Amino acid sequence: MHLATLPCLYSFAVLGPTLTLALHQPQAQVHPKPIIIDTDIYSDVDDLGALAIANVLSNFGLAELKGVVISTGSEYGALTVDVSLPRSSVRLACKVEWDETNMAAKAVNTYYGNGHMKIGAIRPLTQETFVDRWGWQLGEYASKVAHHFPRALRNATQTPSPLTLYREILADAAVNSLTVISIGFLTNLADLLESGMDEISPATGADLISHKVAELVVMGGNYPSGWEYNFAGVDPKVAHRVISNWPKNVPITYSGYELGSQIWTGQHLAQEAPVDSPVLAAYQWYGDRCNTTLKSYDPVTVLYGFLGLGGRAKLGIAPMFEYANADGYNSVNAVDGINTWVEDASVRNQHWLRLRPDVTVSDIEELLNRLLVQSPRAAEGRHGEIIEDMLRSQLRI
Ligand SMILES: *[C@@H]1O[C@H](CO)[C@@H](O)[C@H](O)[C@H]1NC(C)=O
Ligand SMILES: *[C@@H]1O[C@H](CO)[C@@H](O)[C@H](O)[C@H]1NC(C)=O
Repeated sequence: MHLATLPCLYSFAVLGPTLTLALHQPQAQVHPKPIIIDTDIYSDVDDLGALAIANVLSNFGLAELKGVVISTGSEYGALTVDVSLPRSSVRLACKVEWDETNMAAKAVNTYYGNGHMKIGAIRPLTQETFVDRWGWQLGEYASKVAHHFPRALRNATQTPSPLTLYREILADAAVNSLTVISIGFLTNLADLLESGMDEISPATGADLISHKVAELVVMGGNYPSGWEYNFAGVDPKVAHRVISNWPKNVPITYSGYELGSQIWTGQHLAQEAPVDSPVLAAYQWYGDRCNTTLKSYDPVTVLYGFLGLGGRAKLGIAPMFEYANADGYNSVNAVDGINTWVEDASVRNQHWLRLRPDVTVSDIEELLNRLLVQSPRAAEGRHGEIIEDMLRSQLRI
């Protein structure tokens, strides 16, 4: 049943040129997709870039961000997410009292200001900060963003746990409606999958997933087989448990190491981002001596999560991704985290992504870069179809 809902996106492509007419209608009806992002924000700044892109795409009406859950214990993760993501109107109202003369405060206060964002942070919370013990080049950004940009969340202790937030959002969601985008470790998803009934819902976690999740999109693994950090780097056992026990009726789409590692973004932030952008600041703090050019594992995954296979014809966005396999499943080794694709014609709910043949790496880089530098007000007063401005002609329908 779930599988039947995905391929219908293809029909946009089939309709082709006639849909350009829709771009000129004043109110293109685009149904925002409900999305949850599960992130290991803390070390690599591409999580923050991915969240910024999610926010810009939400502003253009492509999706409704229901919440962000965090799988890393540092309190600076939740505080950073709060800085860089949509304010609820309630929070915004409180923050209007901030000193208007403080440019940074004013800018971040209204930064991406349009949503009702809930954040769930894993416990125990720590005050750990990132040190690049591999290359001794990359810097730490999360504590700096948390301390130098205004935020509504005073302390990460005020957040619910990821499990609570997941169960609340799933319990409230319409049947087969949610897209879960996992751009970090699978710890929170393992907790959800293995959870029993509680005061939030009489359903088990597996039942909630089976009934409410339309698709799980995972940045993790290397395809068809290999080593990748989100599966293997910290806790291979949780990756193994989630991937092997995930309900068979819910599609999983993998965005692998081999896809994100060829896509470099962030190179134009200093020239093109608003000066008070937390994205610019975070990339400069993280990048090697201010080199903000980074691989884009998480941003490309979020882009797919929002657009799906079909692109968004009504917004003038052509399809960009396709499945690289017809069938089979991913097997993650619980000890070393290495994933191996197993051929099996009877399993059809798992796929890994690649770019369509007519889409180049630089097309995707250009699109992601444009999204990263959008002002928080880019979508204000504009209909969703204006996102077309941001796309090179070959990505348009
Ligand atoms: C959050 O609260 C804890 C516990 O009271 C405290 O130790 C920590 O310093 C606080 N963090 C921030 C960023 O204020
Ligand atoms: C910045 O980093 C990228 C990727 O590692 C590299 O290709 C580029 O040469 C660097 N730029 C500078 C100015 O060092």
